[in-house]
Amino acid sequence: MVGERLLDIGPEVFYKEPCIPFCLLGFCMNSNHQNSNIKQRLDRVGLALNPKGWVKELLFRLAGGPRFHQCLQHPEMIASFPGGVTTSDISEHLNTLFFFAMDVKPRLIVELGTRGGESTRVFLAAALSGARVLSVDLDDCSGLELPHRERWNFVKADDIEFGLHGFAKWCAAASLKPEIDLLFIDTSHLYDHTKQEIQTWSPFLSSTGAMIFHDTNMGLGVYGRLDRSVDRYGWNNQRGVIRAVEEFLGTTYDERRFFTDVAKGYLVAHYPHSSGLTVLKKTGG
Ligand SMILES: C[S@@+](CC[C@H](N)C(=O)[O-])C[C@H]1O[C@@H](n2cnc3c(N)ncnc32)[C@H](O)[C@@H]1O
Repeated sequence: MVGERLLDIGPEVFYKEPCIPFCLLGFCMNSNHQNSNIKQRLDRVGLALNPKGWVKELLFRLAGGPRFHQCLQHPEMIASFPGGVTTSDISEHLNTLFFFAMDVKPRLIVELGTRGGESTRVFLAAALSGARVLSVDLDDCSGLELPHRERWNFVKADDIEFGLHGFAKWCAAASLKPEIDLLFIDTSHLYDHTKQEIQTWSPFLSSTGAMIFHDTNMGLGVYGRLDRSVDRYGWNNQRGVIRAVEEFLGTTYDERRFFTDVAKGYLVAHYPHSSGLTVLKKTGG
């Protein structure tokens, strides 16, 4: 790394060879390095001028400070989002969804709430080794243009009704065990409905499966992202989703903060940004 080399040189370079920092500065600003961006360049300049001190911090702050962006890394994710990721309420959770979907080594992923199919794209990417993705929505989302459509099934139904009376039959017809490795819940965001969803669908979770809930931190209807942008839903769900999760686990949480927990046989991880995402992964023990 150039930065590390500069750090080795140290501040004495100013006194011995006054032109060197400016040459380095020019090099940093003009570097054609593949991953160069303004932030990295400023970082390097900071290291050159003031390896350990306030210049580095100042430049970091000027370049945006602690502001974090998402990128797609895995080829299946890149293929799933050919136009890149559009900033939305869920865009900052797409990588996390992919991570947990891959982690459960899925055979069957069930998504409750499809809309435009952002989360669907992630699950289709994660279904790379023969898994099926089943999406359920009140609205007809069957016409969505999605990559890997051969991995996808869509059912237009009320999710409670389908969970109680249709899912087991659907699995039998598809020659699948009614065992869900990843259950994603992103529908009404209402307390009573989320409670019913947990009651209806959690018995289908496999012994090492995970349930993921979006919108567990809707607050007053305004949410912030890690890239420091802010957006609004315009309605307050009265903590509907997180309350239902708390009740299921027999505990209480401060959903405005990051936290992890172990409760009722589940590992719990909570991400408060972008309206909140909460993962409940069976400990399998
Ligand atoms: C927030 S959107 C889902 C977003 C989607 N997961 C994504 O990442 O693009 C919520 C969806 O849940 C659906 N929905 C609401 N209540 C439902 C219910 N009882 N059963 C099935 N779908 C429902 C709505 O029609 C809507 O499309």
